[in-house]
Amino acid sequence: MQSKFFTTPIYYVNDKPHIGHAYTSLSVDILKRYYTCINENSFFLTGTDEHGQKVEKAAHEAKIEPQKFTDKVSENFREMSTLLNLSNDDFIRTTEQRHNKSVQAFWKILEDKDQIYLSKYSGWYSVRDEAFVADNEIVEKDGKKYNSFGSELTFVEEESYFFRLSYWQKSLLKLFDENPDFIVPKTRFNEVRRFIESGLKDLSVSRTTFNWGIKVPTNPDHIIYVWLDALTNYISALGFPDIKDKNFIKFWPGIHVVGKDIIRFHAVFWPAFLMAAGLEPPKQIVAHGWWTNEGEKISKSLGNVIDPGQLIELYGLDEVRYFLFREVPFGNDGDFSQDSIKNRINGELANNYGNLIQRVLSFIVKNLNQRIELSEVNFNFNIFKEILELEKELNRNIKNYKFDEYLKVIFTYLNALNNYVDKQAPWALKKTDPNKMNEVLANICISIIRLTQYLYPFMPSKTLKILELFNLDESFTSFNSINNIMEMNLLKINQPEPLFKKIE
Ligand code: MSP
Repeated sequence: MQSKFFTTPIYYVNDKPHIGHAYTSLSVDILKRYYTCINENSFFLTGTDEHGQKVEKAAHEAKIEPQKFTDKVSENFREMSTLLNLSNDDFIRTTEQRHNKSVQAFWKILEDKDQIYLSKYSGWYSVRDEAFVADNEIVEKDGKKYNSFGSELTFVEEESYFFRLSYWQKSLLKLFDENPDFIVPKTRFNEVRRFIESGLKDLSVSRTTFNWGIKVPTNPDHIIYVWLDALTNYISALGFPDIKDKNFIKFWPGIHVVGKDIIRFHAVFWPAFLMAAGLEPPKQIVAHGWWTNEGEKISKSLGNVIDPGQLIELYGLDEVRYFLFREVPFGNDGDFSQDSIKNRINGELANNYGNLIQRVLSFIVKNLNQRIELSEVNFNFNIFKEILELEKELNRNIKNYKFDEYLKVIFTYLNALNNYVDKQAPWALKKTDPNKMNEVLANICISIIRLTQYLYPFMPSKTLKILELFNLDESFTSFNSINNIMEMNLLKINQPEPLFKKIE
């Protein structure tokens, strides 16, 4: 089976990491960890996008040379990976030699295949989005010109190489028609398909009025357009231009997770570049929505940028990870509010999940000498069987990027387990029927372990701590291992500490 290759966009190093970056990266971390749990091999790539006019401008404003500036800011993104407990397999920077070599080779192939020609660009450009803007997409306000995202435009007139994008219109439509899941969610698929259908113009792919970028190998007066440079990172990291590299063979084509603002680059330009170079287009583009802060658009000028570090300090990493993916369906926009994260943490993590573990395990520690016998137990309680079988449904949710549904189902079962504990009342069975009590507790413990395994991709550190309470190490995050656990003679239980702190 083809191994999966998941990527985040590479982040512009003009600024500090914020919640938007964290969100994309966390979603890929969840995917990577999930597939590891079901023993499927995958590769998780992230990194930084360091060239272009926008980064050059930021370096200039900071009065630092671009290379030094990008070294510094890129480090912040590496630190974000540690802070978020990301399981990425590689971190690529576009200023690395391996990438430079790959982009120049990619360009050479396109040029040799007559996919690129020299001409002149005259039109509008958004430095913030590093995007050329067509006349019919310009919004005018107070005598100024903006694109649809509200970025101010500047007029550019310069010699430029063009990529024959128009030629690829038919092949792109075919790609879409043959792969109905090429972009998820479907609304985005339809939007982009309509954009392609409305006609594609050749794309300017080089600039001459600034310096910070990779040079066109055959004409060093030209800097390769930063998006052509940046998109190529996905194959540079797999060893391109060596298409016999074992990683390229094993992992290409990839699945790109991106925010809704950069779909067109990934779902139109990138597959066209690849097809033009004789390579396979990406397998899928997964687009997520945007976060607002207490109902307001997040922007530096409004001063309401959410710093992931601060959030984590306030609420805890796994609490934030849980909230972001439980609160909002992945393709939709979502609003971050103090009240909603507080409600999720208190109501779901502390009162439901945390409390279940606390009361069941404390009971076992206090009354049963920290032991639960498993050897004679029938694991045939209805609720337990349903929990075991949940795996199919959860797998469907992950395949469709329905992270919120995935979590919702699990928490319905945690709730059901809490009710089950109340109904079965092991503390009463202790006096009347100790065997039944052991059976009830064993079924509950295995159910908790099972649900904890399912939750591991979302809350890796908390769930590992919970497994430790059952004396189970990290190898027991593999979903298959539940059978080995059920075959054990007994479970030794450690005294739990409160797992999720309630927010006042
Ligand atoms: N450098 C390009 C990507 C090149 S990929 C070959 C870029 N970088 S970025 O740093 O501006 O944005 C990276 C990601 O952050 C995008 O997926 C974007 O959608 C996401 N977000 C930025 N702000 C966001 C929110 N407020 N909410 C959610 N995600 C948002 O684009």
